[in-house]
Amino acid sequence: MARVKAIGMFDSGFGGLSVLREVVKVLPQYDYMYLGDNARTPYGTRSSDLVYEFTKQAVDFLFSRRCDLVILACNTASADALRKIQQEYLPKKYPRKRVLGVIVPALEEAIEATKNNRVGVLATEGTVVSKTFPREMKLRAPKIRVFQQAAPLLVPLVEAGERKTPAAKPILENYIRPLLKKNIDTLILGCTHYGHLEKEIKRIVGKKIRLVSEGPVVARKLNLYLERHPEIESRLTRGKRRTFYTTDLSERFKRLGAVFFGTAIRPQKITFR
Ligand code: DGL
Repeated sequence: MARVKAIGMFDSGFGGLSVLREVVKVLPQYDYMYLGDNARTPYGTRSSDLVYEFTKQAVDFLFSRRCDLVILACNTASADALRKIQQEYLPKKYPRKRVLGVIVPALEEAIEATKNNRVGVLATEGTVVSKTFPREMKLRAPKIRVFQQAAPLLVPLVEAGERKTPAAKPILENYIRPLLKKNIDTLILGCTHYGHLEKEIKRIVGKKIRLVSEGPVVARKLNLYLERHPEIESRLTRGKRRTFYTTDLSERFKRLGAVFFGTAIRPQKITFR
């Protein structure tokens, strides 16, 4: 069998599976290797230094499995680790490999969508504290103002399967109201899990506010990236294989994995040393 060169995808747990699901819809031909760090999830409440160390380990693992291109399909990892990995780690250790994230694609989409230059971001505490969304926006479109809101209850809400319960609405309203007061016209769902709340969020913000949900955006941008980078694309194998790894294999992973990916998955357990 030809040696597989898959696109690597990493997330702190399940969330990135919904990004992978959208990527696979747009680019089904490639091989994919997914790693969820379920033993150490969530990342959203951890320090930036720790998220960087965890993310580096995950990237090392996927590189060791012959991935030359890894997507950090996790906002918190993208926020805390991507820049440092791209600027310091790769040039020193892996000059031919590439790591991309989910924040820049979401920002590029928001830049196109906003008419009044006021963009809201819902994200984990870690992502908000890192200020990565406003900082990266400033580099790309300094006129656009970014208003952030940490929404720590939303990841557990989605994972508990409680998005349709009466408890969900007041929680969402509480997070979204301060952003509406800022007169935003675009709202980035800046966490892997929030795409699952799109309908509920739409109901609260109404039709006038454009929602940026990362899964479909990342899929489209990855397609464009591969077109622009034939030196990376030509190294990828096209066997439609999907391999799943997790650092904690529980029944919960299998159940929620199927919810996030859309079909049943058969993950293998790995341990970081
Ligand atoms: N995947 C994380 C993110 O997108 C959410 C879950 C966590 O906090 O680890 O920020």
